Amino acid sequence: MLKVTIDNQTIEVEEGTTILQAARLIGGAIVPPAMCYYSKLKDSGGKCRTCLVKVAQGSSRDPRPMPKLVASCRTPVMDGMVVQNITSPEVIETRKAIVEFLLINHPLDCPVCDQAGECDLQNLSYQNGNEETRFEEAKRTFDVIDIGDNVQLHMNRCILCYRCVYTANQLTDKRVHGILYRGDVSEISTYIQTDISNDFSGNIIDVCPVGALTDKTFRFKNRVWFLKPMNASRSCTKCSGKVTAWMRGNEIYRVTGRKDQYGEVEEFICNECRFEKKAVSDWTIESPRNIKRASVISQNHYTRLKNPSVILPLEEKMGKSPYGETKSINDKQS
Ligand code: SF4
Ligand code: FES
Repeated sequence: MLKVTIDNQTIEVEEGTTILQAARLIGGAIVPPAMCYYSKLKDSGGKCRTCLVKVAQGSSRDPRPMPKLVASCRTPVMDGMVVQNITSPEVIETRKAIVEFLLINHPLDCPVCDQAGECDLQNLSYQNGNEETRFEEAKRTFDVIDIGDNVQLHMNRCILCYRCVYTANQLTDKRVHGILYRGDVSEISTYIQTDISNDFSGNIIDVCPVGALTDKTFRFKNRVWFLKPMNASRSCTKCSGKVTAWMRGNEIYRVTGRKDQYGEVEEFICNECRFEKKAVSDWTIESPRNIKRASVISQNHYTRLKNPSVILPLEEKMGKSPYGETKSINDKQS
């Protein structure tokens, strides 16, 4: 076992564990944000740099610090490693710059975006971003296109995290989309005259951290903060049939995978459950879901740390988010 200390908390982990995985084992506010890493997708991570941390001591054998901030989702733990995340002003400042960079080409169209309220980039920028933009140049723009019967691509919003590409590659046996070109002209695209139409294609919507891939059966039907997420299940021959049914009154507006505290789906679900089963009678409605993750969906309960560069003493940080308490979505709706 290897010993690693992250923001003054020490844990023993197995060889091969990354700093981000070790931080998730400790839990709480010290866990770096991740916009491209997705624990269920092999090889994900290393694209967005939001998870950068400072390695103040490389290992017990070689205690020298690492010269630059490193991507915690891609850096394996060494025995005796000492890592700083929210205890490092350098990391906090850099994260602000990363948010600014991710927003360079991302439109600020949250009021009309279907992902508003549950967008990882929206949450990240509320928590780590600057209030003003310095970007005056024109943003790159693309046409909105359908990349399958039920999925629409808004390339303007894509942050090129590759999650959807890994999802399509790893859940199905036929690769039909990827990222074309390089640099600021890169774009998600299906192979010519192909659409994404396999039984599990809808999962690319769930893994997309922004509103680039949206569910055409739900678009503009409702805002997520008016809906109540419920655990629901049905007997399905293609997937586990365990989903989140997003309800308002007695109507199901949307079906998604069940997401954990890091916004990752617990189990990928099939398209039949996601797109075709919208009647309450299709499902056994089990219980309300408890969404604890910091999110602007917490509506009036959301509080923002006034000055994110203020480093709280450890006792204050333990078990407490530096961005303020967040409540379960159900607290406000029940
Ligand atoms: S469409 Fe979404 S999931 Fe795919 S690369 Fe862009 S941001 Fe990531
Ligand atoms: S989450 Fe580590 S680089 Fe994106």
